[in-house]
Amino acid sequence: MCGIVGYIGEKDAKNILYNGLTKLEYKGYDSSGIALIDDNKNLIIKKESGKLTQIKKYIEDTNIISNIGIGHTRWATHGKPTQINSHPHTNCRKTIALVHNGIIENYLELKEELIKKDHKIISETDSEIIVHLISEYYTGNLYGAVQKIIQYLKGTFAIAVISESEPDKIIIAKKGTSMLIGIGENENIFGSDIPPILEHTKNIIVMDDYEIGVIEKNKVTITDLEGNILNKVVENIDLTIEMAEKSGFKHFMLKEIHEQPRVVEDVLRGKIENGKIKFDNFNITKEELRKIEQINIIACGTSYHAGLVGKFIIEEILKLPVIVEIASEFRYKTPILSEKNLVIVISQSGETSDTLGALRVAKQSGAKVIGMVNVIGSTIAKEAYGTIYTNAGPEIGVASTKAFLSQLTMMYLFMLYLGDNLNLIDNKYKEYIIKNLEKIPEKISTILNKSDEILNIAKQLKNTKNIMYIARHINYPVALEGSLKLKETSYIHSEAYPAGELRHGPVALIEENVPALAIALKNSKTYDKMLSNIQEIKARDGKIIVLASEDDENIDSIANMSLKIEPIDEIFSPLLTVIPLQILAYYISDEKGLDVDNPRNLSKSVTVE
Ligand code: G6P
Repeated sequence: MCGIVGYIGEKDAKNILYNGLTKLEYKGYDSSGIALIDDNKNLIIKKESGKLTQIKKYIEDTNIISNIGIGHTRWATHGKPTQINSHPHTNCRKTIALVHNGIIENYLELKEELIKKDHKIISETDSEIIVHLISEYYTGNLYGAVQKIIQYLKGTFAIAVISESEPDKIIIAKKGTSMLIGIGENENIFGSDIPPILEHTKNIIVMDDYEIGVIEKNKVTITDLEGNILNKVVENIDLTIEMAEKSGFKHFMLKEIHEQPRVVEDVLRGKIENGKIKFDNFNITKEELRKIEQINIIACGTSYHAGLVGKFIIEEILKLPVIVEIASEFRYKTPILSEKNLVIVISQSGETSDTLGALRVAKQSGAKVIGMVNVIGSTIAKEAYGTIYTNAGPEIGVASTKAFLSQLTMMYLFMLYLGDNLNLIDNKYKEYIIKNLEKIPEKISTILNKSDEILNIAKQLKNTKNIMYIARHINYPVALEGSLKLKETSYIHSEAYPAGELRHGPVALIEENVPALAIALKNSKTYDKMLSNIQEIKARDGKIIVLASEDDENIDSIANMSLKIEPIDEIFSPLLTVIPLQILAYYISDEKGLDVDNPRNLSKSVTVE
């Protein structure tokens, strides 16, 4: 949920930390701070609530020289987003500073004990406890103190700690949330994600749970909890810095929407070999797969919507039953799973707490669990039996766009993989699907090239207070996703309904100030039904925006406004229909002058329950 960055080397640490934090703001953004050790071995802390502008001003105004520091950007969990609650936190003597991502579940218990030992805890956070605990066990060896206290922490953490008594090292450790170390020359930089590291180096060590790192200028040492030195692999990450930055677009969300033709190509690349789908880390044998009688998909938010589309694809084509569940609901139910279930947990970040919880429940019940994730080395990727990486690249905009499309595209490949292995699909139909998937990038580009038409509609809708989204069949989840995008980015209340449900309540909301956006594709088997729903809305003075096929000549005489996509077999249509809805949400938000990439109250990755 929060973002961490740390640097040690020969350069000006404060600027590197600030730059790193700007690339992590999407991880949390209600307060931020840095801790530096200056040339005189003094620990200096600057932290503020609100956006990073305060830190920027401080960095511009100060003349502190420092080559070592840690930084944090916060999304509040324990305690309000105030200056005192923001990180870094320090011990009572202000000689040790710590940043933390995660949640310490037993912090109240620990707090009581620390108070008894005269520690003055000044914030409401769980994180501050850790630095007092370190201080309690500090006897001149920061690594040793961190090693000692980890056993007392229940919950999740990625921590970075510095002490003015040891100004030549940073100690880091993690459990249940990610930490990556970039190996440079005469410098090392680490972070909770790749973007702050990329501009310095592409050589990365991915830390595992219960590992401790000692980060020095010319050395990185990783040990287990017993202090044994581990031989960690340094991976060369094939990502450019541009991939993690805006590349000239006004916002990350817009950039990421425009990356989608490339994302589909990347998802398909290398996965199709001689007409068969190949997954490198699936880790489930054909024999095991043949025992599968039901697929369960579990996810949150946008990833859940991708799962709903997946259900339609798998059930329509393979006639294999699929249950899709919201992770936060699934994890507290009695799971009815066995080795006959194949569970797919979908997560962009691979860190969503409820999805991770659901994965663990599913594993315990004997089901085979596969993680469909975007972030390499994430906790879900590590804990699942097998992983399907969706290859969307870093997604910075809080509202997910390209990650959703990568998940959707992967759902088709996953369906083909199952179809192949379970003999549920014939070769001709498989070829037809692959051919159609290969045409998707070009068709998306055509929609992107017509963004101005969508901007015009956005201008007309920006002052609307409520919008209803309706669709049927495989496009119903797309309506859910379009509606979610609008809510998230534009703060416009919207609801998405299967159009057939309109008469069962929602139609009561329709009046001239409540427009409806209907997905009605001419070649859909429910097209006529959608037209009837549209007429019902018109009869109640509701304005209608129809997302239609270009070959639908009559639609403009019915609709008040229309968005068009190229005609496509309905089974592939979600890969196209979601694009104009993303663009519409983006433009409405931008037209309203809102913070598109960092919507209020939201976080890119929800690592708390
Ligand atoms: C948050 C994000 C959403 C995302 C959801 C699930 O709510 O804002 O964009 O869909 O978490 O995240 P995941 O990383 O598990 O896909």
